[in-house]
Amino acid sequence: MRRRLFLQTTGMATSLLALGEHARLAGESPKAKPIRSPFLENNFAPVPEEVTADRLKVVGKLPAELDGMYVRNGPNPQFEPLGPYHWFDGDGMLHGVHLREGKASYRNRWVRTEGWQEEHRAGKSLHGGLLTMPDFKKIAQGKDGYKNAANTALIWFNGQLLALWEGGTPHAIKVPELETRGRFTFGGQLKHACTAHPKIDPTTGEMMFFGYGPVKPHVQYSVADARGRIVRTTPIEIPRGVMMHDFAITARYSLFLDLPEIFDFQELLRSGKIMKFDARLGARVGIIPRHGKASEIKWFPIAPCYVFHTLNAHDEGEEVCLVACRMKEFSGDLSKTPLQQLPPRNELPLLHRWRFNMKTGKVKEEPLDDVTSEFPRFDERRLGQKIRYGYTMKLGMDGYLKYDLEKGTCATHRNGKGRYGGEAVFVPRPEGRTEDEGWLVSYIHDEGRGKSELVVIDAQEFTRPPIARVLLPVRVPFGFHGTWLPRKILDG
Ligand SMILES: [Fe+2]
Repeated sequence: MRRRLFLQTTGMATSLLALGEHARLAGESPKAKPIRSPFLENNFAPVPEEVTADRLKVVGKLPAELDGMYVRNGPNPQFEPLGPYHWFDGDGMLHGVHLREGKASYRNRWVRTEGWQEEHRAGKSLHGGLLTMPDFKKIAQGKDGYKNAANTALIWFNGQLLALWEGGTPHAIKVPELETRGRFTFGGQLKHACTAHPKIDPTTGEMMFFGYGPVKPHVQYSVADARGRIVRTTPIEIPRGVMMHDFAITARYSLFLDLPEIFDFQELLRSGKIMKFDARLGARVGIIPRHGKASEIKWFPIAPCYVFHTLNAHDEGEEVCLVACRMKEFSGDLSKTPLQQLPPRNELPLLHRWRFNMKTGKVKEEPLDDVTSEFPRFDERRLGQKIRYGYTMKLGMDGYLKYDLEKGTCATHRNGKGRYGGEAVFVPRPEGRTEDEGWLVSYIHDEGRGKSELVVIDAQEFTRPPIARVLLPVRVPFGFHGTWLPRKILDG
């Protein structure tokens, strides 16, 4: 068995190496002029400095119970890219606002990965991004094919803040300083890349996560216990490597999305696009007991689609219920920002629900809305359990949606003219009694003033203006995912 796996792996590696050689012979054109990308302009543009600022001006009133730190990750290239720039390429930068006793301070820090340090010493970019060929020799050796950008998300697990990037190893971050401690490998136990979207079961403290890639097994699924030890790693066999950005858990199961979004290096050579959607390959969801064997996974065919982010999943009788932001397809075209132009109709993410019957094998699915939105979040103290409320970012980045999944209703928060923001994180009110008691926090950029701010929205007064705005001394570029670190963690 092991021998066969080895042969499959080396076969794949050989073909990847051949492809890499083909790319080298095809000749990558020398850099002639500065790299242009809309993701390097306006408020997508990187900021050049690390800053620390105290005593920030607050408009409105910060709730005294909102005591902790909001930290958000996002791409912020340290140097001009070597080749074409993809939004997912930039070096991770963490932006944190620390709130205590109604006062606010800010700091931003790069995640100082080995690649970041190497380039820092050289004073220039040394690594290509997603729109250039990866290092196939490294992939064949089980290493990262691209520079670990550490730019996607953050999670607090077992006493560590981790900066995550799905192509490689997490990085441990010191809080509240936001300084990089280094690679986090679970004491050497981690043998695969780690998704940017691990799931922590709030009742057991276990963390479920996976890695995916072009080499078999294409997906590896791990469970770490509450003490931070990986207790199992299980191969999830799928026919080909697909882009698997997120997954979901319930109290009993883990759900894997085998969707036909493939990395196509031939296509990259031909057209400069690395991702391709091919509905003919079909789509399915694999559901495995949390601690199950690879053979226990049950696959459910679904209508072809792509999903970047799940909201949540839960068990309901014989059924497993999953809610996610579903696109009918995703061409992989990220040449324009959502502020320049929304994607074509078939690529607009819409909230969607699937019900998988574990006994009969039947699937029911239905759209939950016709308003396009992404970056779903909720009260993560209920992760894997039935939830009533979910919050998403409108795709035009001009507001947020609050879904009441029980009533089937949706409320809209509008940022106001010329004000754009990214994902909003739900912060539960300590000792709150109802699920939506708490706040949404997010960075907003005011295009008119050319300024950034942290906004605090009362989740129960969702359609009203923010109850507090922390004015920031520097611009915070649009980014990806954040997390909330309550005071007890910071003081820990
Ligand atoms: Fe994500």
